Amino acid sequence: MTHPLLDLLPAGSAVDPDGTLRIGGCRVDDLAREFGTPAIIVDETALRARAREYRTELEARWPHARVVFASKAFPATAVQRVMAEEGLGLDVAGGGEILSALRAGVDPALIVLHGNAKSTEELRLAVDAGVGLVVVDNSDDVDRLEEIVPAGRRQDVLVRVVPEVASSTHPHVQTGQVGSKFGLTAPAAKALIARISRSPRLRMRGVHAHVGSQVMDPSELAAAVAPLAALGTFDVYDLGGGLGARYTYDEHPASVADYLDTLLAAARAHLPSTAELIIEPGRSMVNGAALTLYTVTTVKRDARAFVAVDGGMGDNLEVALFQQRYEAALATRLGEEDTEDVVVVGRHCESGDVLIDPLRLPAARVGDLLVVPATGAYTHTMANNYNGARRPPVVFVRGGEARAVIRRETWDDLFLRDL
Ligand code: LLP
Repeated sequence: MTHPLLDLLPAGSAVDPDGTLRIGGCRVDDLAREFGTPAIIVDETALRARAREYRTELEARWPHARVVFASKAFPATAVQRVMAEEGLGLDVAGGGEILSALRAGVDPALIVLHGNAKSTEELRLAVDAGVGLVVVDNSDDVDRLEEIVPAGRRQDVLVRVVPEVASSTHPHVQTGQVGSKFGLTAPAAKALIARISRSPRLRMRGVHAHVGSQVMDPSELAAAVAPLAALGTFDVYDLGGGLGARYTYDEHPASVADYLDTLLAAARAHLPSTAELIIEPGRSMVNGAALTLYTVTTVKRDARAFVAVDGGMGDNLEVALFQQRYEAALATRLGEEDTEDVVVVGRHCESGDVLIDPLRLPAARVGDLLVVPATGAYTHTMANNYNGARRPPVVFVRGGEARAVIRRETWDDLFLRDL
């Protein structure tokens, strides 16, 4: 049996003869029984395959290059561990992500620390751990590092630059345009580079730019290369992340190969061939490997047909923040015809807590399982306890075996910080 949703699910996903979805060899009704819902289900094989694809495609195109996973997209220790095992470095954006990267067993030399407002505590954590590269965003970062780095040591740094590229993605995830809070425009970047070059505690290794996220046109990402090259010759050029991921039937983002063809054509045109290149994919690395499983809790056929599930903006903020469009289906009724236009809503006390509007489904019933594909990126990491929600588990599936790598929060967890 087949279903259009399979197009948006990890390779190897299948529909059983009774209309039930299988991911990583596991039936979703079994997963729901064992782990409850909502649950984020990650196909470990797909996750590893994407990491390997990124790595081999980059290494095939540039002699000295590194893929560094942007942990913020899915900063679960288990996901970071997979990336480390696949030979990737980790981009981290804050103290907690430094700590989880270290727990994941990554070589600290392969960690890249970002942030426009790094605290002294976070910088100390990074320096003490031996983090390979600190991406300096402002002169306060330099002041702090000069105090923290012990005499006799030098911390390798990159300088984050505003490449002055406005991409055509949602304004909330544009970061390369003039006026962005991230990085420095060319004159300020040059002054900071000159200062770092004289610092006894820092070593000026290169420059960094990140144009934005969910960017569908790779040429917009490649447009950051020339502005970086104009700042001078360095050992390292970190070209950021940003490649768009596929969420819906209509979207067709560039493949990793096409993206890298475009990006590295710009690199060959503008950068020294001996330089080390870094890329930092987040969303496009993890989004397609995961799905979210919900249970339908109420069905209300009134002004609209409201299908309400047991999660929502507590486990997926993408819709509220960026009007992200998702597809979905009833996960044990994939053989049935779609007969009704519904709006899928969450359980939270917020009118904006809408997951999918509109969506065509078979007539939904209380207790049905709803599967939403392409939820690997920026969901788990922005999950929250609004309305007393317990954050969902993360479950890895592979070869018919399922294991929780993060358990569901318990009611007791909600009160751990009460004094
Ligand atoms: N490098 C840097 C410095 C970044 O700031 C980001 C993302 C990435 C790499 C990875 O970009 P990606 O490949 O994932 O597009 N919270 C938002 C997304 C914010 C992205 C922030 N930076 C969301 O929920 O969609």
